[in-house]
Amino acid sequence: MRAKVAAWHAAGEKVALVPTMGALHQGHIALVKEAQRHARRVITSIFVNPTQFAPHEDFKKYPRTFDQDCAMLAEAQADAVFFPQVEQMYPPGFATRILLLGPAAVGLDDRFRPTHFEGVATVCCKLFTQSQADCAVFGEKDYQQLKVVTRMAADLDLGIEIVPLPTFREPDGLAMSSRNRYLSAEHRALAPLLHKVMQELAARLRNRDDLFKAVTEAQGEIISAGFELDYLEARHADTLAAVTSLADGPIRLLVAARIGGTRLIDNIGV
Ligand code: PAF
Repeated sequence: MRAKVAAWHAAGEKVALVPTMGALHQGHIALVKEAQRHARRVITSIFVNPTQFAPHEDFKKYPRTFDQDCAMLAEAQADAVFFPQVEQMYPPGFATRILLLGPAAVGLDDRFRPTHFEGVATVCCKLFTQSQADCAVFGEKDYQQLKVVTRMAADLDLGIEIVPLPTFREPDGLAMSSRNRYLSAEHRALAPLLHKVMQELAARLRNRDDLFKAVTEAQGEIISAGFELDYLEARHADTLAAVTSLADGPIRLLVAARIGGTRLIDNIGV
């Protein structure tokens, strides 16, 4: 990949990376299309990264659909697929992790997945340095991840621009995710409620409704619908720090909830 990228750079072509764990859907293709707007060449990495899964999480059962992914990427005219194996990324003796503070330590997903962002940052740092890409495109669906990776790339002078892209949604509003395929028909029908509640909450806050009251009622609505709620919180959109009033903004609402064992996350700007 380095040789290929060096040749592209020598020809004066910009290179973008779209990091994925495969099981691609139209949200990933939207990332590829966005990458094509920023660079002449687009590499998509497909790597189910073991270091970002806790032992009880779904690493083993995470969907792996390599042939279908490649067909989708060919159709989208991506230039290359980088598909490293676990032993190449983490050979015996691998002993380095990135220690994260700031947006990785704010009590959102980090509270429920304490080693997750360390694994994400470590693999992204490797993918960035391996690819030497000029920019990398990340979806806003994983909003905390986007903030963590943006912070890391700046703090470690990785020389890569992180480009955010708004969440790609199903027609009924559910944020596209590779994990949506775990949902039963019944839970799939219920899942768009998360986005609906978030939209209504954002509208209430834009109308200057009381922050605490509006958030508490939205939390109640999600729980009453049958979700197990990890969190629904209003945070500062850049730092992800806790906010107590709309004046502490710009505000982003973030939610994580489980339905039938599938964990869904979403977020929305106010
Ligand atoms: O968002 C994902 O799919 C993963 O966390 C990423 C960024 C590819 C790192 O493994």
